[in-house]
Amino acid sequence: MFRTPHPRRPRRALGALAVSVSAAAVAAAGLIPAGQAGAAANTLRGLAEAKGIYFGTAIGQGDLNNTTLTAVAGTQFGMLTPTNEMKWESVEPSPGSFDFGPGDRIVAFGQAHSMRLRGHTLVWHNQLPSWVDKLPTSQVQTAMRNHITTTAGHYKGKLYAWDVVNELFNENGTFREDAFYRAMGSGYVADALRTARAADPGAKLYLNDYNIEGLNAKSDALYNLAKSLKSQGVPLDGVGFQAHFVVGQVPASLKANLERFTALGLEVAVTELDDRMQLPPDSTKLAQQARDYANVVTTCLAVKGCVGLSQWDVGDGDSWIPGTFPGEGAGTMYDNNYQPKPAYYASVDALGGSSTPSPSPTPTPTPTPTPTPTLTPTPTDGAACKVTAELNAWNTGLTENLRVTNTGSSTVNGWALSFTLPTGQTVTGAWNATVAPAAGRLTAGNLGYNGTIVPGGSVSFGFQATHTGNAGPAGQFSLNGVPCGAA
Ligand code: G3I
Repeated sequence: MFRTPHPRRPRRALGALAVSVSAAAVAAAGLIPAGQAGAAANTLRGLAEAKGIYFGTAIGQGDLNNTTLTAVAGTQFGMLTPTNEMKWESVEPSPGSFDFGPGDRIVAFGQAHSMRLRGHTLVWHNQLPSWVDKLPTSQVQTAMRNHITTTAGHYKGKLYAWDVVNELFNENGTFREDAFYRAMGSGYVADALRTARAADPGAKLYLNDYNIEGLNAKSDALYNLAKSLKSQGVPLDGVGFQAHFVVGQVPASLKANLERFTALGLEVAVTELDDRMQLPPDSTKLAQQARDYANVVTTCLAVKGCVGLSQWDVGDGDSWIPGTFPGEGAGTMYDNNYQPKPAYYASVDALGGSSTPSPSPTPTPTPTPTPTPTLTPTPTDGAACKVTAELNAWNTGLTENLRVTNTGSSTVNGWALSFTLPTGQTVTGAWNATVAPAAGRLTAGNLGYNGTIVPGGSVSFGFQATHTGNAGPAGQFSLNGVPCGAA
């Protein structure tokens, strides 16, 4: 099946505090592994926005019950696409009967996390209720216009963009002969775009497809259509490149292809990025995947008019891939436990971040970071240090990112940062460190890949927690046994 905005919204406000500390030595604490990565400035979202693009993901309404998933999505990503909840079969399962509940819940999550939102999708042959397929051709245009007008009208003013028509071409570049084409010929595309513009004048209007990332017959067809639509003044603003890739097969012509679309005056976006492999993953495949992700991120950054990227789904355990391609999967930047994979770190690097030493996209296969501490602080480690924190809280939960800087003159080899959580906070996951116990006085210990802090250097880690009303920051830091705040 598959082979393979510019920011207008202010970035989410993050509370921040800084704590100075100095330290000596203590044995590493007992520890629990966990989660995703990076201080807010070093999240995919923050780094992308600093570069003038967005980095998004896709979630479904069932995902909203997964607190680990939502913590990752709400922290790391700045654009949100509903995986199924705005599709025709979900929104209008029977003629004229609309249900916006599931889509509204995704929108509410996105708004609560100050994310941009992408509508997906108004006109698509798939996940189309059978009643549309069964309509006499004379009634399809009315049904399509009504669906677009009602749906885009419902979300008017809330979405950055709509995928107005999805997957309109066959692989050889001919139009897919779906209900819309059968009824209206290729003119249905312009009709859909005009109808969408009238319903929500503020949303960017996109055509979105897969296997159009490189120069080929299918992307040629879309290019010719886009050029024709633009010359006729049809309201087309962008082209979405789904980018469902296979490891090692990102087309070499990706950049040239994106650029021919931007030369038409269109914006372009990577809308559904994943990069699948034969299971199980190994370090070689994961290293190639890291190079692929970095390649795509770097390419978008290099193309003026590439407004952003979105991954499809959050973690490998959420992905559509194994259900469609048996034996394949592991296409996202997060593993089944929401641990960041080499592709995550490679993407961070490509965006100009440097949160932790990480498997970078080099030709040599690199191992996945393991959550096993391998360095134990020794009694000679006594570097002065500084801790900065960034806190993001909502009703009953929070994420906090801590950056520990070695302000002393000697290298810290193995670190244990102890701190106290406000009463009522319970840690449910952590990233880039092991953290235990879950409440009260905690100790975070380094992982195998981030135990060394050179003078002037820093490491960052973070955790997510539930709270019962006090969403304040952690405090009373001490590094390797020496209280913070003394420096
Ligand atoms: O909700 C039913 C559930 O009640 C039932 O028990 C279950 C049994 O199979 O199916 C559930 O529906 C599934 C639905 O996702 C919701 O999970 C469908 O079977 C399944 O086919 C559907 O898959 C979606 C797929 O589009 C359908 O084409 C994926 O979640 C969704 O991620 C995927 O997204 C598409 C984009 O829209 C367009 N580009 C490709 C991308 C990946 O295929």
